[in-house]
Amino acid sequence: MTTLPTPPHPPTSYPGRPDPVSSTPNAGSYNPATTTAGGLAGELARLEAQAELSFDEELNLLRELGLTASGGPLVEIGAGSGAITRRLRRALPELSLVAVDIDPDLLAHAEGAGAELIVADAADLPLETASAQYVLLRYVLQHLPDPAPALAEARRILRPGGRILVTEVDASCWGLADPVYPELVGIHAKMAATQQAAGGDRTIGRRLTRLLRDAGFTEVALRPFATTNDTRPTDDFAPHLGPGRLQPLVTAGVLSLREFALAADRWNRFRADPDAWVMLLGFTAAGTAPDASQNGRHPTEGIQ
Ligand SMILES: C[S@@+](CC[C@H](N)C(=O)[O-])C[C@H]1O[C@@H](n2cnc3c(N)ncnc32)[C@H](O)[C@@H]1O
Repeated sequence: MTTLPTPPHPPTSYPGRPDPVSSTPNAGSYNPATTTAGGLAGELARLEAQAELSFDEELNLLRELGLTASGGPLVEIGAGSGAITRRLRRALPELSLVAVDIDPDLLAHAEGAGAELIVADAADLPLETASAQYVLLRYVLQHLPDPAPALAEARRILRPGGRILVTEVDASCWGLADPVYPELVGIHAKMAATQQAAGGDRTIGRRLTRLLRDAGFTEVALRPFATTNDTRPTDDFAPHLGPGRLQPLVTAGVLSLREFALAADRWNRFRADPDAWVMLLGFTAAGTAPDASQNGRHPTEGIQ
């Protein structure tokens, strides 16, 4: 396992880093340069704001679903820029953390987060079997063409009794807003369809418990978490509701400038309305890595 040096430029080679000649990471439907307005810098800011918005609610759920304050390691797969890693470090200073991502340039921004950093594919982790107490995957599975190999790896590296924690969304029950703008439904459907066409799935929330059971996890449970502007300024919801995410779709020819302007106008109306209310919904699913003796097979066997 290898620690990355200071960002923004990691070394040209180290164990687990893809060959620099062919180093475009295969991050499924995720491309940090085209996720939101402003390219990579815009995406780093969006990841940070997104983590800030709901981390408290997410942490409460992680605790309810079995995360304890010490021990570990917790292996955060698809940790990206370390937005959650840094917050976990602050909230749980005794917990040992490992942050993994397929994208070395993104992961370099997690330097100093208080975690060991590893560049690797979720489906092929350079970690020992039964070496982790927790695995966390936050907004990663929705980008993978097939989540099963990543879940099989998560199960392999977890100790028997270790917990997998998966945080995701489902585009069709993303939350509630008042006032509602039905004219934006088609625009958001195009965003989901674009991710789907790139091999992702923005409706993965509904599949989480089945995916975990299919991967062999036991004690599978799912909890929703809600974030509202009762306790935060409406502007904090810009990473989710603002037009930034839509701008790359204009560049790609998926949305017209007219559609983008419509979405921007509705967001501006919404944020200027002192009575506007929003609740975002997310989901965290958890499962336990079974003891080999519980199901008569080794934890690494029989995973499709
Ligand atoms: C939307 S970002 C979420 C980042 C972070 N989990 C957070 O919540 O701030 C998705 C992350 O998954 C990573 N990723 C995508 N495919 C991956 C794979 N096959 N193996 C490891 N990481 C992957 C991306 O590079 C990116 O950092």
